[in-house]
Amino acid sequence: MDFSRDILKWYFDKRRDFPWRITKNPYKIWLSEIILQQTRTSQGLNYYIKFINTFPKIKDLAEAKEEEVLKLWQGLGYYSRARNLHKSAKYIHETLNGEFPKTYNELLKLKGVGPYTAAAISSICFKEKKAAVDGNVYRILSRVFDIDEPINSSKGIKVYQELADELISDKNPGDYNQALMDLGATLCKPKSPNCIPCPVEGICLAKAKKTINIRPIKLKKVKVRNRYFNYFCIETPEQFLMKKRTTNDIWKNLYDFPLLELPQEISQLSPKHLNFIKKFVKKETFKHLKTTPIKHKLSHQNLHINVFHIKAKTVTQSNGIVAINKNTIPELPVPKPIELFFQQLSNSLDSKG
Ligand code: ADE
Repeated sequence: MDFSRDILKWYFDKRRDFPWRITKNPYKIWLSEIILQQTRTSQGLNYYIKFINTFPKIKDLAEAKEEEVLKLWQGLGYYSRARNLHKSAKYIHETLNGEFPKTYNELLKLKGVGPYTAAAISSICFKEKKAAVDGNVYRILSRVFDIDEPINSSKGIKVYQELADELISDKNPGDYNQALMDLGATLCKPKSPNCIPCPVEGICLAKAKKTINIRPIKLKKVKVRNRYFNYFCIETPEQFLMKKRTTNDIWKNLYDFPLLELPQEISQLSPKHLNFIKKFVKKETFKHLKTTPIKHKLSHQNLHINVFHIKAKTVTQSNGIVAINKNTIPELPVPKPIELFFQQLSNSLDSKG
């Protein structure tokens, strides 16, 4: 049996065409790998094209404003990826004189580059023999070798990494790593895998033992946290009140509305809400329009969002909350629920004519 030879042979015949597969330019490969960290290729593809067109060289990305980078990233989520991408581009351009790091260990020093991404870049661009181990690889190896060690136990992590390092192709580690990505995405899927065309079906132990559906084993750990956001969209004829998020929380450096976070949901305008907004808008001058409830799921948080839409004649800027002209709102990087809210607002205006 030659696992790596069979996987590579299949890849040369069946691999998916992506624009990052016609280059070995480390800047482009790095960009694609950061985009694809928590994103499907079907969604990441357009973002990759947009980024390469807007910032063809690392210098272009390094010299851009962070807000421009976040704006282009808008909708992709996990925004620390964009902030780290920008910081690392500046570091490479300014401190390393534009020389992209060439080894796994040097790549690991870049913000936002962990073992998987460093292995992917170093194997694809520099033929370094480093196995990129992610969920796809855990699933494939757990099935082919019928491993019952949990993928998120410390022993499991070690067992899988050692096996992956043993199996990786000497001659072509970059294509081998990408072959496993493709096999996991197209055939060896979490549910209903397509085994007939699989290049390693004949040696797959889980197939023989009928354990495919219980591989890989994963210990349940993470607890999802519920959060209750009360947003106030305070609108004057020309402006909206907005706030740049600066703390180490979700959506850092994106803009949202004045926010009151409470321990539970209160969907009607209450004295608590009125007390919060009195800094920005006088009670006598505003008209409360309506509340829009939005549910937004993040990996470890469920956000229960209520947006209270308030129209006011004048507003007061306070505590980092600033009045932004309506025509510059589309340029601001905003979280997805805020973008959706603005879309709904403009749709309802359109339908009113
Ligand atoms: N996911 C992460 N990296 C990838 C790559 N290079 N090709 C396809 N999917 C990927």
